[in-house]
Amino acid sequence: MTQIIARAPSNIALIKYMGKKAIGNLPENPSLSMTLSKLCTFAEVSVVESSKDIETWVPEQPALGKYSESDLMFQVPVLKPEGIEKVLKHVRLLRAKCPEVFSPFQIKPRAGQFHYQLKTANTFPQASGIASSASAFAAVTLSVAGAMASDFSEFQKVYLENMSFRRALASLSRQGSGSSCRSFEGIFVEWDAEATRTVESKLSELAHFVLLISGASKAVSSSEAHVFVKTSRLWEGRVARVEARLAQLKEALIAGDLGRVALISWGEAWEMHSLFHTATFPFSYWEPGTVEALRFLGPFVNSDNPPIVTLDAGPNPHIIVRASDREEWRARLKERFPRFELLEDRAGMGAEVFQA
Ligand code: DP6
Repeated sequence: MTQIIARAPSNIALIKYMGKKAIGNLPENPSLSMTLSKLCTFAEVSVVESSKDIETWVPEQPALGKYSESDLMFQVPVLKPEGIEKVLKHVRLLRAKCPEVFSPFQIKPRAGQFHYQLKTANTFPQASGIASSASAFAAVTLSVAGAMASDFSEFQKVYLENMSFRRALASLSRQGSGSSCRSFEGIFVEWDAEATRTVESKLSELAHFVLLISGASKAVSSSEAHVFVKTSRLWEGRVARVEARLAQLKEALIAGDLGRVALISWGEAWEMHSLFHTATFPFSYWEPGTVEALRFLGPFVNSDNPPIVTLDAGPNPHIIVRASDREEWRARLKERFPRFELLEDRAGMGAEVFQA
């Protein structure tokens, strides 16, 4: 039996993927995110020969390989039948498409019929308000692809050395959940249509916080939000605005201009949430605590050494600061919001894969 493990981090978008085309999770506009590190999904795939090709997801803790001694907390997600089917459908897509993706990189797929048994766990609790689909689909894609190679060490070598191969896997992952394609590399990753690439930055080391206003499950999923935003009067002109904003953000990242990065990211987060608030049937992810936190953080965004503040399709502000300011910000946020839990992470370099 072969056992392959992948670890994939979540990512937080500064320029948002919101609004997509009808098939393949192709975005209406390019987006750009920061890859995280400790907030991640582990996926284990065990492969055994079988009389026919099958795939199952088992609600058990995966093997953790070299991470078994780490102080990370693991939680096996509770998936509804449609959630399990979404993952298994993606595994079937990977099994169909990997041979073609492997071919230009001289990676041979396994021959025969197999049972792929999948186990997954997140390092953040289900009720933490952290979207798990980016990290989960990246980890599932990488572990299943690794398990499909007839020679895993060859697969791992190409994955580590050849960014084109990594990006081809990211493109497959996108078809399961769009934002997952940005979790394969780091630190700043741009995604446009089918392609992902790293954006260089002179920003110094960064720390990341999530102020956990609420971990309740969302009334509107992000997949639904992608559809509803197009009913907003503010949707018109969105693609051109995002493209201009993305160009400015890339310039600011390259120059290491934290002030501009913070202002651009703040505006983009507000614009995405304004689309939600102005849809034909308006909806909002914000809780009273979200508004309180945004009012508190707003003035800092225009200061000399600002935090980058953004939100996903959820109520919880993400706050990114220079690593050297981590303690100061931890103290500030804990003092001002003692009733909310504070999650901490840092910028990271993307998904990895290894054999158990
Ligand atoms: C608000 O990647 O979850 O986090 O492709 O339907 O799975 P699907 O959507 P998903 O959308 C993420 C939306 C977002 C913004 C972003 O990450 O860019």
